[in-house]
Amino acid sequence: MDQRIANRIGGLAVFPDGPTFDSTNPARPADVIATLPSSTGAAVDDAVAAAREAQREWAARPVPARAEMIAAAAEAVAARKDDLARLVAREAGKILVEAAGDVQEAVDMGRFVAGQGRAAAGETVPSELPGKLAWTTRQPVGVVGMITPWNFPVAIPSWKCFPALLAGNGIVIKPSEEAPVCADRFVECVVDAGVPAGLVNVVHGAAEPGTAITLHPGIGAVSFPGSAPTGGVVAATGMAAGPKLLSLELGGKNAMMVLADADLELAVEGALFGAFGTAGQRCTSTSRLVVQRAVADELVARLAERTEKLMLGDPLDPSTDVGPVINARAGERILAMVAAAREEGGDVVLGGEAVTVAGCDGGTFVAPTIVRVERNHTIARKEVFGPVLAVLVVDEVADAVDVVNDTEYGLSAAVYTRNIAAALWAVERIDTGIVYVNAPTIGAEIPLPFGGTKHTGNGFREAGTRGIEQFSHVKTVYVDYSGRLQKAQIDTHPFEAEEQS
Ligand code: UN1
Repeated sequence: MDQRIANRIGGLAVFPDGPTFDSTNPARPADVIATLPSSTGAAVDDAVAAAREAQREWAARPVPARAEMIAAAAEAVAARKDDLARLVAREAGKILVEAAGDVQEAVDMGRFVAGQGRAAAGETVPSELPGKLAWTTRQPVGVVGMITPWNFPVAIPSWKCFPALLAGNGIVIKPSEEAPVCADRFVECVVDAGVPAGLVNVVHGAAEPGTAITLHPGIGAVSFPGSAPTGGVVAATGMAAGPKLLSLELGGKNAMMVLADADLELAVEGALFGAFGTAGQRCTSTSRLVVQRAVADELVARLAERTEKLMLGDPLDPSTDVGPVINARAGERILAMVAAAREEGGDVVLGGEAVTVAGCDGGTFVAPTIVRVERNHTIARKEVFGPVLAVLVVDEVADAVDVVNDTEYGLSAAVYTRNIAAALWAVERIDTGIVYVNAPTIGAEIPLPFGGTKHTGNGFREAGTRGIEQFSHVKTVYVDYSGRLQKAQIDTHPFEAEEQS
């Protein structure tokens, strides 16, 4: 399938003149999936105008009518699940079962959001005055700009598109250059299901169209994933260019904490999946294992034994456990972090090197890595985004919580223990947006909010009933049908000056 894939603007395939880029298979970069335009801000301007035009008619439709289209889109994704999963494996390097999970997450999101279309969406409160009603509703922002990452190349576009559509918005998506075809195919499902084509616009390219989206005065909300420093710049420049809702998702340094009484086999399974699933390239991946001293050596030994058996290979081969990292640059960054950990005194128990995989020429494969470190080591604090697990040993439960919280991020954490009191004590004190008990740090489900504290974001949540807050404004409505002027706070408690004595 070496083909050209154009931008989608106003329902048309538009391939601007000028430079192009190739989307390639990370396991075999010579396998070109498609050639796409390196668009400029001009394409974003056109996309915003088209989205705005289509949005007016869309916003006039009742919410349940929009929801029916979203339900159809979810079923269109479900019907193409196998093909999409293969594409995710080929373009983003995820092993097939995880690629299918990625697509399933989009289906779940579409079904969930469609249900929201017939659910209560605001608050109604009793007014303090007679003959007066008070409630809230949500109104669209107009056009939503989305920059979507490669690591959940179908799921994350769905997390953003479905709630934005339900809220009555038009959309401009700038997918990651690492997995643009997945995003294009997802949008194809949405459009084929009957969502007006001009409503969902896709502009391909690198930083230029992304920046244009964050600065565009015609865009009312921007949803952006990236690093914490870039997020800061996007927030400042985006707001300076015009008022907008900005929801940021800026990474994690997720920890699994294992107490001495934990079911160690369960903890080993959890750490294997959490740290090395998706080659450690989830925002939620387990990056630290914080373990009580009494079981540390045994846990690390058992984990190393299982980790050694993981099969690195072509993601399209069903026997593969761990695929490639997204590109050579990522591999270099990950291995440099492991090298720095060694220099700082970390003990690399396993891995820490690139691996050659037969039949995958040019792919970058990083051996799943376990490194014992100290709290002050860089790798104990900075996000790696690769298959590397930093092990930290602690004495007390309180120390474990301290270490878990000792990072600038706050996305996800896990607590393994059989002691319910210890689990709940830790859950209360861990400063993250998501906490698991006896389950790994990855695997969030659609109906609940997804997002984090500290530098992980700016307070918005994706998914769940609150996902829509990124893409709509609250409107508070008061209706006074009493036929007379009523004064809140004053009529109810008239001011009577106290007599001076
Ligand atoms: C991400 O890596 O940005 O909780 C999303 C999980 C997945 C979503 C991860 N459901 O691991």
